[in-house]
Amino acid sequence: MKDRIRFRPLQEKITDPVTASQHIQNGTNLFVSGFTAGYPKLIPRALVQRAAAGEKFKINLFAGASTGDAVDGVLAEAGLVAWRRPYMSDRTMRRQINADIIKFKDDHLSRLAGQVRAGDWGKADVAVVEAVAVTDKGHLVPTMSVGNTPTYVREAAKIIIEISSEPSELEGIHDIFIPEDPPYRMPIPIYRTGDRIGKPFIEMDPRRVVAILFSDAEDSCPIFTEPDPGARQMAAHILDFVRHEIRKDRLPPNLPWQSGVGDVANAVLSGFMEDDFYRDLDVYSEVLQDAVLDLIDLGKVRAASGSSMTLSERARTRFFKELYRYKEKIVLRPVEISNSPEVIRRLGVIAINTAIEVDIYGHVNSTHVTGSQLMNGIGGSGDFLRNGALTFIVTPSTAKNGCISAIVPMVSHVDHSEHSVDVVVTEQGLVDTRPLTPRQVAEQVIKTCAHPDYRDLLWDYYQRAVHSHGGHEPHLLDEAFDFHNRYLATGSMKA
Ligand code: COA
Repeated sequence: MKDRIRFRPLQEKITDPVTASQHIQNGTNLFVSGFTAGYPKLIPRALVQRAAAGEKFKINLFAGASTGDAVDGVLAEAGLVAWRRPYMSDRTMRRQINADIIKFKDDHLSRLAGQVRAGDWGKADVAVVEAVAVTDKGHLVPTMSVGNTPTYVREAAKIIIEISSEPSELEGIHDIFIPEDPPYRMPIPIYRTGDRIGKPFIEMDPRRVVAILFSDAEDSCPIFTEPDPGARQMAAHILDFVRHEIRKDRLPPNLPWQSGVGDVANAVLSGFMEDDFYRDLDVYSEVLQDAVLDLIDLGKVRAASGSSMTLSERARTRFFKELYRYKEKIVLRPVEISNSPEVIRRLGVIAINTAIEVDIYGHVNSTHVTGSQLMNGIGGSGDFLRNGALTFIVTPSTAKNGCISAIVPMVSHVDHSEHSVDVVVTEQGLVDTRPLTPRQVAEQVIKTCAHPDYRDLLWDYYQRAVHSHGGHEPHLLDEAFDFHNRYLATGSMKA
């Protein structure tokens, strides 16, 4: 206990979860740590216990991005969430958002902390944060994520800390820097991926700490399946393309890489392992996954920067066993820094993000199935796609056993426009849109990226649009969503 709470006066704040949870009442704006990892586990459970005992209340829940079942899952299941921001990926919560039971608003992750500081999200009543330690000056050492925690801790009227049993040797991996808000913001002084510009702890006013809990609950670990042939194919397309661009002197070697969440992202990073061309890699990303550890072990990583680490059970054990070694390479930052448009643009990040669907002109839907149903949220994909030096959007060419084409005439929801997307990739092939006109993009995307089952349908649509309407980006407005309508009516986009 003394090692974990080194600021003595706070040792008196140790209590039990239900008592601590009394600071959270109906209508409380609750700001939690967590960014796929590092979320609190005890307070949500205590809230559910109170609800099960008959107490009626709802909270407004704000996190860094997705949390585990221990937060989003259990609180949604118990019907305790009125509002949720930002990105989430829990199935129960998703259902309630789509049924408008939970209010939800999506935001670019890089912007959130500034919005909270500006008061756009309302008063920060209570912050519940997971930490491995409180320093002797009363500051906070977070766990496996930083996310928006520095701002939540700065803004909250009351702070509840869950001290995790994770190794306190995590101390030193974080780099906490909160930029000034406009108009006083100075440049963020990151010039290389691994630069450290802040402090290894989150500054906190210990007088606002109302409760401290000890927790031995762990983050739930994702299960990474071996990349399927499609994901491997997409990874191979990307690695070949970038190698080609570097050899032709059109791209500097050693630009940092960002890779979104999921299996394709992991497959791209795994692809580096078997490829001798790529070494001394910089990873300037948002969530660091297993493959980053593998690459560090192979001596292929110069520096890896993110806002959190989401590791499988096996990778976690390895990570904690040799933390001292990984700490030399890894930096965890607030998400407003890991996703900062200014830094991404300056470093020249090569960005790879996943779409739900892409249209023939390169507009991208990452968030809403058939235009209406929220999947997860935009996350950091907009931060990286809009600002990267070279941007890839990847998607398997079909979904749901081939009944859905991921290449459609017009996307049913727009997250990223053609102007943010340089290269479209499916397992079928890759199109570099940069030197092409929109009509050339459509022709290439249909021929190269669409699944053969849908090429004729797309080609027919495009040709009739060209001949009957013409224009710079020809469309048939009365047919543009026929693929989606057919899927909704028959369960398949096929004619
Ligand atoms: N129409 C309908 N459903 C589709 C679809 C489409 N065009 N494309 C995919 N889906 C479904 C899949 O069938 C799957 O459904 P299931 O969960 O019922 O099996 C689900 O969407 C997820 O697809 P999957 O192929 O498993 O991909 P994924 O796990 O890589 O997720 C996104 C893809 C787009 C949902 C995910 O990458 C995302 O949320 N992106 C936005 C945020 C982001 O990019 N963050 C990273 C920035 S650092």
